[in-house]
Amino acid sequence: MSSAAAALVVPRPSFAAPSVLRAEPVSLQVLPEGQGKTALWGFNGFSPGPELRVRKGDTLSLRFENHTEQPSSIHWHGIRIENAMDGVPGLTQPLVQPGETFDYVFQLPDAGTYWYHSHHQSWEQVARGLYGPLIVDEADAPKVDSDITAILDDWRLDESGALMAGFGDTHDFSHAGRLGNFAMILLSQDTVRLGDRLRLRLINTTTARIFPIRIDGLDAKVVALDGMSLAEPRDLSDIQLAPAQRVDVIGDVTAQVDFRFVARDALYDMGSLKIDGQNTNPVAPNIAALPAPSVSIPKTTPNQTLSLRMEGGAMGGRHAGDDIWALNGVSGLKDEPFATFKRGETAVIELINDTRFPHGIHLHGHHFYELRQDGSLGDLRDTSLVERGISRKIAVVLDNPGKWLLHCHMLGHQASGMKTWIEVT
Ligand code: C2O
Ligand code: CU
Repeated sequence: MSSAAAALVVPRPSFAAPSVLRAEPVSLQVLPEGQGKTALWGFNGFSPGPELRVRKGDTLSLRFENHTEQPSSIHWHGIRIENAMDGVPGLTQPLVQPGETFDYVFQLPDAGTYWYHSHHQSWEQVARGLYGPLIVDEADAPKVDSDITAILDDWRLDESGALMAGFGDTHDFSHAGRLGNFAMILLSQDTVRLGDRLRLRLINTTTARIFPIRIDGLDAKVVALDGMSLAEPRDLSDIQLAPAQRVDVIGDVTAQVDFRFVARDALYDMGSLKIDGQNTNPVAPNIAALPAPSVSIPKTTPNQTLSLRMEGGAMGGRHAGDDIWALNGVSGLKDEPFATFKRGETAVIELINDTRFPHGIHLHGHHFYELRQDGSLGDLRDTSLVERGISRKIAVVLDNPGKWLLHCHMLGHQASGMKTWIEVT
């Protein structure tokens, strides 16, 4: 794999949010300046799409216009959203055909770092660039000098910079997914001052790649995962982000801030924030926890205890067709949900990875707690990375009525069977 010498700066609109999100062909300088541009799909002229920025409790009202050649839809990842706005064709809305529009109107119940992306043929449409950041500000946000969105993505490019074909490749699907050969961090600005207090919002928008990331030049703490604040900020060691996961970091600049991808054999430069001047009036050194999340706490005695076994894939007995992967022996969406809950019930679900690959399991419409070994509540997430051969329990209060997907966010795995749904009545 190769990577960029310098981070790419993406424009950030100064207005709160556009009222139209127009999916359309765009191009991006992924290869170094002077080499070929990459033809992608994006929103409003750019990939990533515009940063949508609102305050907790606000309502977003957006008209999605599809100017691509494929049907599509938009999913608002991690938002505890009203079901009809969740963006899942066939489950919550019809497909939006080329030339058609769909109006999304929804409230943002939680502050934090979220994102939006296509939810149709997503293994291709997200890889082509149909995604963008969605940032919900706390009513009482901590003071920082710069609040920077940092998107981690990879692309599979040929020498001219064109995306390579073969999005639906069965070999990719039955293994780790479509991994790019070129990775980069897309930053909302590219310089900072020594001594600046930064908030970094890292978002993994790849369809398959797990990024272990090292950040140098920052004396920092991790303050949130998947949008939700940690009760106690944690030391910043190497951070791991599975596809769709987010990490918020707050810290002070001690030198040029370098982002490196920690691969088995080497460290790859993903991009950096260069130093431009000195902050003579730094923010006080302590880094406090962000305001606590308002997600319901699971009951200690769950109403339902379930297990979800991930099966299939290469070396797992299934290699071809639409059913390379399965959950509890079932591939893809069936008419019957995996489980039905009464609103407010607590479920404990054991995620059992009986395959040779890691999977990032995402539940729509809710956040859940990962349980620690001793059964206590661990991190609050919307996407849980389950390494091969292990199992992890999650606990969740199903308090959002509707039909919700539960699937692997390695999008080629989702496409080839690793998805199901639940219903909350
Ligand atoms: Cu981020 Cu069902 O997806
Ligand atoms: Cu998977």
